[in-house]
Amino acid sequence: MSDSTNRGSGWTPSKRLDGKVAVVIGAGQSPGEGLGNGRATAIRFAREGARVLAINRSIDSVEETAEIIRKEGGEAFAMKGDISIESDIIAVMAEAKRRWGRIDVLHNNVGVSLGGGDADLMEITEERFDNIYRINLRGTAFTCKHAIAVMREQRSGSIVNVGSAAAVGLYPYVAYKATKAGVNAMTEQLALQNAKYNIRINCIMPGLIATPMAVETRSKKFNKSHEELNVERSAKVPLGRQGTGWDVANLALFLASDESDFITGECILVDGGRILNRT
Ligand SMILES: NC(=O)c1ccc[n+]([C@@H]2O[C@H](COP(=O)([O-])OP(=O)(O)OC[C@H]3O[C@@H](n4cnc5c(N)ncnc54)[C@H](O)[C@@H]3O)[C@@H](O)[C@H]2O)c1
Repeated sequence: MSDSTNRGSGWTPSKRLDGKVAVVIGAGQSPGEGLGNGRATAIRFAREGARVLAINRSIDSVEETAEIIRKEGGEAFAMKGDISIESDIIAVMAEAKRRWGRIDVLHNNVGVSLGGGDADLMEITEERFDNIYRINLRGTAFTCKHAIAVMREQRSGSIVNVGSAAAVGLYPYVAYKATKAGVNAMTEQLALQNAKYNIRINCIMPGLIATPMAVETRSKKFNKSHEELNVERSAKVPLGRQGTGWDVANLALFLASDESDFITGECILVDGGRILNRT
């Protein structure tokens, strides 16, 4: 017997993030065709009842995300913020508190690789390595720092970091892999240190996802059509396709919601089985 039958014919299930305030960092997306992971997650959270503070370095892109949410009847506010600047992060958390009084969910979607200048160790420069480190690892650490300060007062919260399957599998460039591996390690450490405050911290490791960032940057770098790249990338995945932003958003929703109440410190792959095929 289904849950709804149990509760009588007038019962409708509550939304999975009803009443929650979510800060989604990197809720815009890189230029190009398709849907990014952060935009998909912000939309998914709002559809499940969250009030979403949508942050991005480029405001136009995140305004678009907030507009999509509002057109669907959801609640979202777009704000410009650069994860590599601590004063921006402080302003973001203060805005969430001012607007809605709390922060239940922090979703850390920002990450750069090729677009940030990543390369093989023998070719990368100090400046490019530092750029990727400042965004992927230090930026994620500092959003956690300022969200955790609020969550500790509340004695509750869920943080979802977006890492990468590159942290644990093959990846050709050095700074992305190293910084994403750092995100995994930091997730475990922060989860352990903040469990006593009822704050859960988990990490999603996407595999090959067909987002504008992944496809567009590679199309330019390797001079290949989107179709060629999509075929190549899909062939590497046991399930026979690349993931979509929705695949990442679905796990983010579970980890953000109370359904994952007893899960913390986990780094979970969303990769269609790709890791099993990594030789
Ligand atoms: N697409 C994939 O195949 C794939 C695979 C593994 C992991 N990931 C991870 O998923 C996440 C999102 O990837 P995506 O493909 O949707 O990328 P995306 O570039 O579309 O989304 C990231 C967003 O973050 C923003 N951003 C970049 N630097 C920022 C900064 N300093 N401050 C604030 N915002 C900033 C970008 O403008 C963009 O809107 C990243 O963390 C990425 O590493 C993606």
